[in-house]
Amino acid sequence: MCGIVGVTGVSKALPYLLQGLQKLEYRGYDSAGVYLTDGAGQDAFIKEKGRVSQLAAKAEKNGFEGTAGIAHTRWATHGNVSIENAHPQKSADNRFYLVHNGVIENYQELKDIYLNNVTLVSQTDTEIAVQLVAKFAAEGMTTEAAFRKMISLLAGNSAYGFLLIDQQEPETLYAAKKKSPLLVGLSDHGNAVTSDATAMIDLTKEFIDLQDGDLAIVKPDQVTIYDEQEQKVDRPSFTLTIDPEDTDKGAYPYYMLKEIDEQAVVTRKIAGHYFGENGELQGIGCAITDKMAEADRLYIVAAGTSYHAGLVGKRYFEQWANLPTEVHIASEFAYDQPKLSDKPFFIFLSQSGETADSREVLDNIKKQGYPALTIANVMNSTLTREADFALPLLAGPEIAVASTKAYTAQILVQAILASALGEPGFDLKAELAKVAVEIQAITDEKEVFQQIAADALTDQRSAFYLGRGLDAAVALEAALKLKEISYIQTEGFAAGELKHGTISLIEEGTPVFALLTQSKTAGLLRGEVAQVAARGAKTFIFASKDLAKEGDAFVLPQVQELLMPLLAVIPAQLIAYYATLARDLDVDRPRNLAKSVTVQ
Ligand code: F6R
Repeated sequence: MCGIVGVTGVSKALPYLLQGLQKLEYRGYDSAGVYLTDGAGQDAFIKEKGRVSQLAAKAEKNGFEGTAGIAHTRWATHGNVSIENAHPQKSADNRFYLVHNGVIENYQELKDIYLNNVTLVSQTDTEIAVQLVAKFAAEGMTTEAAFRKMISLLAGNSAYGFLLIDQQEPETLYAAKKKSPLLVGLSDHGNAVTSDATAMIDLTKEFIDLQDGDLAIVKPDQVTIYDEQEQKVDRPSFTLTIDPEDTDKGAYPYYMLKEIDEQAVVTRKIAGHYFGENGELQGIGCAITDKMAEADRLYIVAAGTSYHAGLVGKRYFEQWANLPTEVHIASEFAYDQPKLSDKPFFIFLSQSGETADSREVLDNIKKQGYPALTIANVMNSTLTREADFALPLLAGPEIAVASTKAYTAQILVQAILASALGEPGFDLKAELAKVAVEIQAITDEKEVFQQIAADALTDQRSAFYLGRGLDAAVALEAALKLKEISYIQTEGFAAGELKHGTISLIEEGTPVFALLTQSKTAGLLRGEVAQVAARGAKTFIFASKDLAKEGDAFVLPQVQELLMPLLAVIPAQLIAYYATLARDLDVDRPRNLAKSVTVQ
C-alpha cells in the first residue's frame, strides 16, 4: 500500500527518493509526490497522479535535486485519487511537509476542534495532521513538541507512520510510527527513513527498526530516538541481508513469472532450512512445539492467498498432528470472534507480516492471553514481532502483487511444522525433494499453459475452477489468481456444491478447469466435470499421474497425495499469467490492489 522514503545529508536527494519510490511501486499506489530542500532556502514540491515514472518526469523537468527530502506513494483511502490528495501534504503556512501511512480515525473530530479557521485543500486525514503541527508550532511550540502534540491527539486505534520536514530546519527529518512499519537507514553519506528497507538499499543496508510509539529525529550525521515514554533509547541496528538482485526482474518480463519459476528453488531452500543433513527437523524451537502440543485446537487466521494456504495446512495439522484446526478469514474473525476452545493456539499466516486485518486479530487474542505463532515471509514485520513465536517462509522478496511463491512456501512450512508435531507416515524431506523437481518440470512446460489460456480465456468474462477436498482449497487460490490479474470473473468451487445452484451459470463455452489429485473423490469429480460439459462448458482436467485418463488437459507428476496442492497450483498460476498477458494488462500491478494491505 502506501510507501514512505526520506533522505537527508546526501549529495542529491531526488535520485534516491525516486529509486526508493520505484522499489515501493509493487506495493500498489495511485499517486506519488516528493518534497525536496537543500538547506539553503531552495525547495521543490511535486506531486502527480498515476505512475512514479510520471512523477519522475515532472521532477526531472523541474531540475532541482535537493540534499534532503521526503517522498510517498499513496493508495487512496480518505479522498479520491488526485494531485491535491497525494502526499506530501503541506501546512497552509507552507512551513511543514508531511507524508503518512495509515489511517487517523478521529481526523474529522480533530478538524472540528482545532482547525475551524484553516482552509483545507485536500480530503485527506494527513492534511489534518500537518495543519495541526503548523498550528501548534505557530502557538510557540518547537517542531518536536508540535509533532508530539499532534500524535498525542490521535485516537487510540489510529495507525501511522509519519515523516515530517520543517522548512525552517530543512536538514532534519521527524519520524514517528505506530502499527505501520518505519525504519531509519544509516550511512556515512547521509541518513534515511523508509517504510520498507528494500527501498533504500541504494543508500545503505544498515537499518534501525522503529518500535510502536517511537519518535526519531534524523539529521545528516545524527539519529536520536525517543520511546513512547519520551525517553531517549538506543535501538539496535541490523544489516539487511537481501541481495539487490533478489528485487530485480533479471531477464524476466514480469516479476510474477520469475516468482512462479522460483518455487522449485524456494522448496529446496525451505527443506534445507528446516531439515538437517540426516533428515532431523531443525529451526522450529521446542518452545513452539511444546506450546502447540498443549493446545486442544489450532486457529489459523489469514487473508486472501494466505487464507487459502491455511485451508491446505489444516489437513496436515489434523491428519498428521491430530490437532483439530479451524481456518478463519482475518477480517471476519476480528469483529465476530467464534466461540474458542479451552486451549486455543493461533497461527497467523502472512506473506508481508503487515496485513491490518490479521494484526487486528493478533491484538485481540493477545489481550485475551492466547499464544500465537506467525509464519511470514517478511521477518521483523509487525505480525512476527508481536506474536509469541515466528517462523520464516524463506520465499525471498515477493514483488508481484499476485502471490505465488509465498503460497507454496506457506503450505511447505505448515507441512513441516505439522510433521514436527506428529507423523506424516512418509519421509517428508525426501518427498519435498521430489516436489521441487516436479515443480520445475511443470514450470518447464509453460507453452502448454499459454496455449490453454489462449484456447480457454481469450474472450471469456467468467471461468470456474473445481475440485474436491484439498483440490477444492486449491481451486479457491487458482480462481483468485486468475480473477485478480486478468479481471476474468472466476469462481473456485467445491465441485459437489455446483448442482445446488451455481451450475445454472454454466453456458456454452464457459471455461471450467478441474483439479483432480485426490483419489477418494476422483470419480465423483469426473462426474461433475461431465455434468458441466453436458451443459456446454469447455472443460480442462488437470489430473495427477495416478488418476489421469486419456483426454485430460495436463497430467501432473505424482507426489504424496497430501502434497499435491504444491503441484496443482502451478498450472493455475501460469494460466493466470498468460491470460493476463494476452489481455495486455500489467501482470505485476493489477488495478485497485496493493501488495501489503495495511488498512482494514
Ligand atoms: C493475492 C494476495 C493477497 C494476500 C492477502 C494477504 O494474490 O497476495 O490475497 O494474500 O492480501 O496478505 P499477506 O499474506 O501479506 O498477509
